[in-house]
Amino acid sequence: MINKFWQIYRKINKLPKSVGIEACSLCQLNCRDCYMRKNDPNVIIGNGYLKFENYKNFIRKNPYIKNVELSLAGEIFLNPELYEIIKYSYENNINLTALNGVNFNTVSDKLLEALVKYEFKGITFSIDGVTNETYQIYRQGGNLNNVIENIEKLNFYKEKYKSIYPILQMQYIIFKHNISEIKYIKEFAKKLKIENVYFKEPWNGEIKFNNLDKQTLLEIQSLNMQYKIYDILNNNIPSCYQPFIQPQINYDGRLLGCYCSTYHELNVNVFEKGLKFALNSPRMKFMRQVIEGKENSNNTLDCHWCEFYMEMKKNNKFIDKKQIKFI
Ligand SMILES: C[S@@+](CC[C@H](N)C(=O)[O-])C[C@H]1O[C@@H](n2cnc3c(N)ncnc32)[C@H](O)[C@@H]1O
Ligand code: SF4
Ligand code: SF4
Repeated sequence: MINKFWQIYRKINKLPKSVGIEACSLCQLNCRDCYMRKNDPNVIIGNGYLKFENYKNFIRKNPYIKNVELSLAGEIFLNPELYEIIKYSYENNINLTALNGVNFNTVSDKLLEALVKYEFKGITFSIDGVTNETYQIYRQGGNLNNVIENIEKLNFYKEKYKSIYPILQMQYIIFKHNISEIKYIKEFAKKLKIENVYFKEPWNGEIKFNNLDKQTLLEIQSLNMQYKIYDILNNNIPSCYQPFIQPQINYDGRLLGCYCSTYHELNVNVFEKGLKFALNSPRMKFMRQVIEGKENSNNTLDCHWCEFYMEMKKNNKFIDKKQIKFI
């Protein structure tokens, strides 16, 4: 089912049918290594949320857009206009997702019902621990019991409306402190009707998939879920496809290019100048050329700092546009 869902992004013809627009960069939690909570002046995203009016105008002016990914650097459910965004999207045949992640600690009943009623397509819950004690070590200020309660309410509405949407998946960042709970994930996910679980390496490097012991790898394999080793297999490459197939836009309209561009914007505002203009702007074009290996990134421009770019450069293996069949 998730597989089919991802195919939505692959139907593309010249102009992208998908964009990422950050719904809200604000968050109520304080996860230790979150780049948004560190007051780093180099992070250019800022604190704010997508205004319904801007979203509505954007969809009206760009009728070829069919899919919008809303999650990026904050918690989408803190956007006070999210209900209107979800309802409007449904009424205008836009597929909404929050696959980068949500902490799902604070969601009103009205929104929980709207997610089902208006067929929000897919959600990734960031849950790294199956007990509250473990969960709270990283998700500071969060409470796993609230998350569970919200997922149960969501499932109640899914039954009420007899809907498969939203499709539910869970991301588990493997830290030293939660590795012992991997063996309980299968039961946890089944109980909450979560259809897919994938694992992620932590940014601080304390766990590397390559160094996991045999027992843990067996436990991961025993989950028998579709994308259980999602990040190992695709190595996060889709973020470099983003400038081609799902350009990332900040909540205030600034074009970021991809979801890793937290330190550089591309100096053009999509809400002010229009998407077509923005996608053809010099910095955006340059970014696409850089990841195709046709231009060298330098320290004043995008990508040069990014681990994916460094890896591509080291191996002299860049994005081959011809390989992206869905462009
Ligand atoms: C900044 S968060 C914003 C979305 C949402 N608030 C959440 O946490 O899922 C974006 C993604 O980064 C992930 N993330 C947060 N801390 C991380 C860490 N230390 N290592 C790897 N990924 C992390 C989140 O789980 C989420 O998938
Ligand atoms: S829940 Fe997400 S956005 Fe919020 S602090 Fe944690 S990682 Fe950052
Ligand atoms: S190399 Fe560039 S396009 Fe690819 S993920 Fe990094 S910043 Fe984004």
